[in-house]
Amino acid sequence: MPSAAELVDALTLEVPDFPQPGILFRDLTPVLADGAALRAVTDRFTDVFDGGFDLVAGIEARGFLLAAAAAYAVGAGVLAVRKAGKLPPATLTEHYELEYGSAALEIRQEALQPGTRVLVLDDVLATGGTVEATCALLERAGAVVAGVGVVLELAGLGGRDRLTGRRVEAIRVV
Ligand code: PRP
Repeated sequence: MPSAAELVDALTLEVPDFPQPGILFRDLTPVLADGAALRAVTDRFTDVFDGGFDLVAGIEARGFLLAAAAAYAVGAGVLAVRKAGKLPPATLTEHYELEYGSAALEIRQEALQPGTRVLVLDDVLATGGTVEATCALLERAGAVVAGVGVVLELAGLGGRDRLTGRRVEAIRVV
């Protein structure tokens, strides 16, 4: 049976010059659309962080899908970390830089009980700005970041360096 990393390798779509010329976009949508791959990826996250989290945070947009699958598998809840402007007030907001542009992420101020252990999931770790902002947001809300799981890490962009001291699990590193 192929490993989660092998399935990710086989199914990830590489799209040149998207969303801007010179950017090689890695689309993990086909990984999520494949039942065996979704299960293998989800199982890896829940195995690695087994018992160490109370809630799973998914980062908009593909992180939502990973978080829902992992949370359901262990009977935990999901927290959707939204792009700015989607949630009613009062929100906590964190601004961050992307590989191509800038953005902001939000959660509701009262979304978390203090001390809640949160596993953060997303599809891709690139510059690390998105995950870094998410962790900052969760910690400002009083949560404890139990770990970070990503399907694909783009090692050349240095994202892991921005997450020093955090437990980061990447299923595939390119
Ligand atoms: C992509 C990806 C990660 C983020 C990684 O999301 O899904 O969330 O970029 O980049 P970083 O490590 O450099 O911060 P994007 O912002 O394109 O939004 P989307 O998921 O809504 O398409």
